[in-house]
Amino acid sequence: MANGFFLKGNICHTPEKDEIEIHENAYLLCEDGRCGGIFPAVPEQYAGLPVLDRGDCLILPGMVDLHIHAPQFAFRGTGMDCELLEWLRLYAFPEEARYADPGYAKRAYTLFAGAMAESATTRAVIFGTVHREATLCLMDCMEQTGIISYVGKVNMDRDAPPELTEPGADASAFDTFGFVNAATRRGYKRTFPILTPRFIPCCSDALLGELSEVRRAYDLPVQSHLSENPDEVELVRRLMPDAAFYGDGYDRYGLFGGAARTIMAHCVWSTEAEVKRMRDRGVFVAHCPASNTNIASGIAPVRKYIAEGLRVGLGSDVAGGQTESMFRAVTDAVQVSKLYWRLVDRTAAPLSFSESFYLATKGGGAFFGKVGSFEAGYEFDALVLDDSGCTGPRPLPVRDRLERAFYQGLDREGLREKYIQGVPCRGLTR
Ligand code: GUN
Ligand code: FE
Repeated sequence: MANGFFLKGNICHTPEKDEIEIHENAYLLCEDGRCGGIFPAVPEQYAGLPVLDRGDCLILPGMVDLHIHAPQFAFRGTGMDCELLEWLRLYAFPEEARYADPGYAKRAYTLFAGAMAESATTRAVIFGTVHREATLCLMDCMEQTGIISYVGKVNMDRDAPPELTEPGADASAFDTFGFVNAATRRGYKRTFPILTPRFIPCCSDALLGELSEVRRAYDLPVQSHLSENPDEVELVRRLMPDAAFYGDGYDRYGLFGGAARTIMAHCVWSTEAEVKRMRDRGVFVAHCPASNTNIASGIAPVRKYIAEGLRVGLGSDVAGGQTESMFRAVTDAVQVSKLYWRLVDRTAAPLSFSESFYLATKGGGAFFGKVGSFEAGYEFDALVLDDSGCTGPRPLPVRDRLERAFYQGLDREGLREKYIQGVPCRGLTR
């Protein structure tokens, strides 16, 4: 019989976005790191497998964070009265410059990885800084958490402070080759490189051209930022007057989906043509509601993106977002969608909790393959959540307990266990 076990409890997941499927007191089979099905009782042919009985706990897929900046964790929750370009200049860039110092990077990334290990996140797509050594240190730290992640050494060769500006396109691309080679040599099991041009204002055409070669040589996925803020979009229009729209600036260098598996963060101000191109190329949108609120970018029209068939997941975007909590991202996405409906477009129905839960699990999980659901064949990434501390005068249905757990932020005190590919994660100290 295959290597496996059952996790028993109240199982919640979203094979379809519109409804949370609930199995009370049920048995979730893990076989060789993958889900083998959900059963009301242990089927006879599996009678020999251990059953990990988690009583009345909630069991749900792990959270997928499609967009987070590890170096910015150090100043999370500060600078929240700026807009994007000013915030980059006053907060993000000065902090990121510190990662030239390997000692600082080690201290900061140990803290970051510790927080990620404690969180409900099981998969993450992460920005580092321009520094090769520091970003490899970040990969070392993430590898210890059990979380499966993509980590990028950032590329930027213009429009940043001199200490963060790489000395030309060739040097930036060369350093990226070195980064990918070193990451490969280190033989990580769960931490992978991703190409990370910061955004067009910081990347010359020459650099994007070089990076398209690097991408092809290693078949790397890509992450960047897109149409986040009106001043940024205007800046890109001036910097790249030939581009049909912002995303076209990436696409002309093969950095916008298609053969390049790509995540674009934000997409608050995307035009119809940009949305169509994202759909045609299968670009993932990382919707980052907290960041878009904090640094006053706006509200991404996620209802439209879902309706038009785009691939959408959620991102914490620390430190535009103030917290790495993906439970918070799920509830923020619902809340901002309500404001969008009320204040901007009455035809854009707000997201339901189920839809937002889906975005944080199966929606973003698709970037990693069969991830984010308990359907048979999906990778076994699971959370065990104890909501017994949430008291009330009457019992609630499991579906409502799940929603309450998100709104109450129980990923801090209620998270008991985290499994990734069927392996329990070390690092949870509760
Ligand atoms: N655009 C370019 N860099 C950044 C960043 O670090 N954070 C956010 N939110 N947007 C960006
Ligand atoms: Fe970002």
